[in-house]
Amino acid sequence: MATTLPLTPARTLPSDQDASGRTLGEAEIAAVSAALRSGVLTSTKGTFVSQLESRFAAMLGARYAFACSSGTAAIHCAIAALDPDPGDEIITTPITDMGALAPILYQGAIPVFADVDPATCNVTAATVAERITERTKAIVATHLFGNPCEIDEIVALGARTGIPVIEDCAQAFLAVYNRKFVGTIGRIGCFSLQQGKHITTGEGGLLVTNDQELARRLFLLINKAWGYGDARPDHYFLALNYRLSELCGSVACAQLDKLPAIVARRRMLADALTQKLRDLTEIVTPVVARGAQHSYWKYCIRTAESMHADAVVEIAKLLKERGIVSAPRYIQKPAFMCEIFQQQRTFGSSGYPFNLARADAVDYRLARYPGTVSALERVLVVPWNDRYSEDDVDYIADSLRWAVGSISWRSA
Ligand SMILES: Cc1ncc(COP(=O)(O)O)c(C=O)c1O
Repeated sequence: MATTLPLTPARTLPSDQDASGRTLGEAEIAAVSAALRSGVLTSTKGTFVSQLESRFAAMLGARYAFACSSGTAAIHCAIAALDPDPGDEIITTPITDMGALAPILYQGAIPVFADVDPATCNVTAATVAERITERTKAIVATHLFGNPCEIDEIVALGARTGIPVIEDCAQAFLAVYNRKFVGTIGRIGCFSLQQGKHITTGEGGLLVTNDQELARRLFLLINKAWGYGDARPDHYFLALNYRLSELCGSVACAQLDKLPAIVARRRMLADALTQKLRDLTEIVTPVVARGAQHSYWKYCIRTAESMHADAVVEIAKLLKERGIVSAPRYIQKPAFMCEIFQQQRTFGSSGYPFNLARADAVDYRLARYPGTVSALERVLVVPWNDRYSEDDVDYIADSLRWAVGSISWRSA
């Protein structure tokens, strides 16, 4: 039987919800002060947002980058750039943020959910292929927790069937797949600058593409489709104001300088934790594809099949006693189990766009999603932060070992 007493007192870890786990410092204060002093707070006139865009494009090796007001806005612009007809289908993942799904519905398209690989919580080329129909307009491939999905294979599948791929990199700044940064492999990459991401402006988003025509559409979609700089500008089509302000753009410029070091440190610390947990057979450490580099937005573990199904909840409870606030089962249920999908609550009583969907596209029976059910049942999301010390990582490893040891006898 395992020990039930932790060896060291509980400690407070840096958190991405406040200054302790953020890299907001003098550089950001100086940048935002300069923006304020200039009196120019809109990106249509200022210099910070355009600087952010050109520097982000250069960092990723993309031809174009655009800033916008959130990761949700980035996904919305990416979907709208592809101009789906009402009722077109967009294949995506059921383990994601609602900000990646609501834009599909706002654009009149139907999110069609592919199953995930329970080892990574990511969709695969095989699970996406199962959902392709003649109505598929696009695939959204999400790199969950910063762990790249098999994006080359998904893009190749899309190329064979003429379907463009949008990468959702909200959680995956500077993650790599086969020597390319994620976000630059599909047609459009989307990023989030929300409070808890690798770098932050509180709220914000970024888009990248190598495609000139899509770049033009993305620019317009952020700007109410007003043709700034054109000889005879007009509002060319339906679009919203999704601009990032110069206040956020200035902070983002300073944050961008720190991004490579942030990701490098998260990787180094995560590798150290993986080493420390190697012999703990009750849990499975992150499974990273060959040729991929995880960027560790979070450090996700999965309980081994030998553990009972509720073990993640019990481990999380014990970790909480140790000051480690983990998320057992992440979003708790597949996104399609939320009321918005179950009750089809969208625009008044119209049911639009669900009223245009094929029955199979909105068939949300859990039996069709064995990988998703298994993934959510066993995943434990451990908070991760570049401001952890090596002692913090030792502490997390010891706490996990203690928590697993405290409950594993019950699983036998
Ligand atoms: C995978 C994913 N996609 C999209 C979003 C939406 O981003 P935002 O919260 O910046 O709107 C998030 C959440 O933040 C996310 O985690």
